[in-house]
Amino acid sequence: MSVVESLFRSPLGRRLAAKAGLPDPPTLRRGRVGPLGEVLLAELPGGGVAAATLAQLGVAPGVPLQDTPESRTPDEKGRPQPLRYERRPGALVIDATGVRTIADLEGLRAVLRPIMKRLEPSGRVIIVATDASAVAGLEAKAVAQGIDGINRTVAKELRDGATANLLLLRDGVRPDDLASTLSFLLQGRSAFVDGQTWRVAARKPGDETALDYEPSRPFAGRIVVVTGAARGIGAAIAATFARDGASVVAVDVPPAGDALSTVANDLRGSALQLDITSADAGQRIAAHVAQIHGPDARIWAIVHNAGITRDKLLANLDDAQWGAVLRVNLAAEIAINEVLLGDVPGGLGQQGRIVGIASTSGVAGNKGQTNYAASKAGVMGLVWAQAEELTGRPVTVNAVAPGFIETDMTAAIPFVQREVFRRTNSLSQGGRPVDVAETIAYFCDPASGGIDGQVVRVCGQNLVGA
Ligand SMILES: NC(=O)c1ccc[n+]([C@@H]2O[C@H](COP(=O)([O-])OP(=O)(O)OC[C@H]3O[C@@H](n4cnc5c(N)ncnc54)[C@H](O)[C@@H]3O)[C@@H](O)[C@H]2O)c1
Repeated sequence: MSVVESLFRSPLGRRLAAKAGLPDPPTLRRGRVGPLGEVLLAELPGGGVAAATLAQLGVAPGVPLQDTPESRTPDEKGRPQPLRYERRPGALVIDATGVRTIADLEGLRAVLRPIMKRLEPSGRVIIVATDASAVAGLEAKAVAQGIDGINRTVAKELRDGATANLLLLRDGVRPDDLASTLSFLLQGRSAFVDGQTWRVAARKPGDETALDYEPSRPFAGRIVVVTGAARGIGAAIAATFARDGASVVAVDVPPAGDALSTVANDLRGSALQLDITSADAGQRIAAHVAQIHGPDARIWAIVHNAGITRDKLLANLDDAQWGAVLRVNLAAEIAINEVLLGDVPGGLGQQGRIVGIASTSGVAGNKGQTNYAASKAGVMGLVWAQAEELTGRPVTVNAVAPGFIETDMTAAIPFVQREVFRRTNSLSQGGRPVDVAETIAYFCDPASGGIDGQVVRVCGQNLVGA
């Protein structure tokens, strides 16, 4: 810890930080644990899918309070006060799938107001609404986007590590399609996913796996390849998949071989020393899988986590720094996917999952990172294009876009700048590698076939690009 850093962490430093509007961040509840308090369900007129999904998850929800003119009681000065929860609820799920008009938005306001200061720490607001693509009429489409504005603002106003997220449902979504997402959001696994909106669709034809697996070990009997697995976020991804039953193939460059072996041995997986930019990288991954697991084995998921930075202002950036970042972070992913999607021993199965790692720098740009932002925005473009290209095959393609995550990569940022990046989000702290890993595991869950072509930020609602 540097001198500046230890000063910042001292009691005096913390008092000064609090005065500057940077109070101690809340401790987030992580892992597979669900909400501590009660789950409430507000079913607005025309809703229904959330109740059926919660029932499928074995959750018996309570009924939320509603702020109406009649419900308000005057305080000692005669000012009308909204109803107040006696015990803090753990989560509020709002089924707004029937909301079509501006007047209908009142239903959201009425159930949100009483809960804003009363959710338990690390509690959840989850709004389920209908995507603009699935409603007709200007007002209904505008209102679908209006709910996005409510979600983002509620996420900024909630306290104590509580989060808000919005799921927009495309046509024909059934409880089976929504269950993995609601389950993820209700658990501590989604601790650092805040203020996000993403789309849930019906699973593609031919996607049958959701009916045939053990939810507490969703990857049992499945092979998952993780690149850049020797340390940081990649090591956490590998550990999370192994925890959930996967046979992990951990890939990293030869110089990281010792760390890679340790990761693979700890997880009872296998290690493949490989520079993912080599021309035969895809073939070598497939050959490794076929060699270890047999020629009929197929990969369930590949997570393209390996990434590098070579930060410089564009005026000072040389060809090598430009090219290396684009090769590792983007070109390798395209080339490897092309090979593994072919019909090769040890390639991706007919069904499967592809996951990329974008970044908030790709969403919003970042000074000194033209090369990195190009590569990470490119990952987002790849996800959208490849998901569209694969509509006829039950393979999903998604990406996470991490914000500030505590790893060796971010430890290299100068302290003051690092502290600013770390704090400027709705949860006032950096995320942990496991937060990114859990979101990727949710994408790859056999029941997440309806999550396709999505980029979900794991950034605590970072101000950058929010
Ligand atoms: N840490 C953050 O805050 C953050 C934020 C946004 C995105 N990301 C992205 O998350 C991913 C992981 O980041 P991290 O912080 O854990 O980084 P890290 O530097 O700690 O780890 C990256 C790993 O990738 C490996 N790697 C690099 N080039 C490779 C190559 N050519 N072939 C095979 N392996 C290679 C490295 O050896 C290393 O083990 C990266 O794609 C990064 O861009 C990180």
